[in-house]
Amino acid sequence: MGAAAHDDPPATSLDPATSLDPAGRWAPVAADLIRARLTERQSQDLPTHGGRTLAYVYDSGRADVDALAREALAAYGGSNGLDPSAFPSLAAMERELVAFGAALLQAPEGYAGTVTSGGTESCLLAVLAARAARPEVARPQLVAPTTVHAAFHKAAHLFGLELTLVDVHPDTQQADPQRMAAALTDRTVLVVVSAPSYAHGVLDPVAPIAAAAAARGIRCHVDACIGGFVLPFLDPPAWSFEVDGVTSISADLHKYGYAPKGVSLLLHRSMALRHSQFWATADWPGYGVVNSTLQSTKSGGPLAAAWATAMLLGHSGYAALATQARSATVAIADGVRGTAGLRVLAEPDSTLLALAADDSCDVYTVADELSARGWFVQPQLPHRGGPASLHLTLSAATEPLVGQFLSALAESVQAARAASPVSVDPGLAGVLGALDPTALDERAVAGLLSAAGLSGDGAGVRLPARMAPIHALLAACPVSLRAALLTAVVERL
Ligand SMILES: Cc1ncc(COP(=O)(O)O)c(C=O)c1O
Repeated sequence: MGAAAHDDPPATSLDPATSLDPAGRWAPVAADLIRARLTERQSQDLPTHGGRTLAYVYDSGRADVDALAREALAAYGGSNGLDPSAFPSLAAMERELVAFGAALLQAPEGYAGTVTSGGTESCLLAVLAARAARPEVARPQLVAPTTVHAAFHKAAHLFGLELTLVDVHPDTQQADPQRMAAALTDRTVLVVVSAPSYAHGVLDPVAPIAAAAAARGIRCHVDACIGGFVLPFLDPPAWSFEVDGVTSISADLHKYGYAPKGVSLLLHRSMALRHSQFWATADWPGYGVVNSTLQSTKSGGPLAAAWATAMLLGHSGYAALATQARSATVAIADGVRGTAGLRVLAEPDSTLLALAADDSCDVYTVADELSARGWFVQPQLPHRGGPASLHLTLSAATEPLVGQFLSALAESVQAARAASPVSVDPGLAGVLGALDPTALDERAVAGLLSAAGLSGDGAGVRLPARMAPIHALLAACPVSLRAALLTAVVERL
């Protein structure tokens, strides 16, 4: 296929049917057309700003922060963090960002840290470092509460660890120190606790669990991916490096660090603890490879944007934003307590809420009703005997809108109570319970998708505006079938 000449006139359409030539080559398209299409495409997504999207995104509400971060992102988009000796400015910004986080997380002298691409990569690297430091353990084990983020399930899967999940307290949803201690074995290479957990927003009792780990010489990771830039400004029980047995902490800059996506911090108590996180080789004919993260070539954009954001805000800026987000959380929790039909699932320690409903209404219908009113909350499936719930991540920009949210929530609950309950046919539920998710063929997947109202054609699956029936179906599936079904949907989007 020959290259298009630079002086080919740009196509005036982005429709492949008219912009492809007979040889199937994609014609260049005029920049203005591309800009317009980007704007149009983005309008189909959840808004990243405005304070009404209560999961996935974090809005400081400060236009100056966003503008500076985007400048830095654009300026460094082509810089390569693969080799800090070739891009020393990236190494300098990484050092400074790590120091900025270390001060918040009370890291002792001698700490070492890395900027990673996100929460999952920070968690994966904490597990990898712990596992690589104990090569003599043939069947390494990772011990965590059942509420731990899925990133640790992924780490165990990718790196071949046995994941031991320990039941949490049914009322508080916090990890149980006695049970966690009892789960430790000679094969345990890492214990993980959350600060706070994503699904319920509660802080695990870090001190007794870290002490039990330390007593056996086991590393203890605090997953503060979502709380690392909030909890330092609230008044929780000790949870960071001030607790002796804590060996590493993850804290995401692209969450409450209010930076654009693609950036997180992983801090270790010492350089020695970080060492096994690195991977290096000179045993090939190309350049020497030293990787501190899972990526090799990595964009400097997210790092530069996070650095600019952190420098502009300073610790005092984060303190103000954390106070706003916390005040939104407390006000919404109070409002929910006064709303018949709904309850707060666990006492929130930070800026996240999980809301459950009584039998009079269906939470997934509440989510759809909120969505129709311009608010996005995230449905969570029932798990290990716990109820279906709605997740809310509150960021600073939502604080001025709390009254509007509570009115929309009250209307949505009323509408959900008036609607007929979303239920799954008992016959279908029985079939779902008996299906073997590892043996689903195309026909079975098509049948399941159609039962969920998702019969995709050649163009793939389109999700409906009202998702309650789909969530109800997923809720009726065993967890392994849920994963298979979700994969089938995403594969077809
Ligand atoms: C506690 C916790 N850990 C890990 C993660 C994973 O982070 P990411 O989605 O950035 O990979 C999250 C994401 O919400 C989280 O809340």
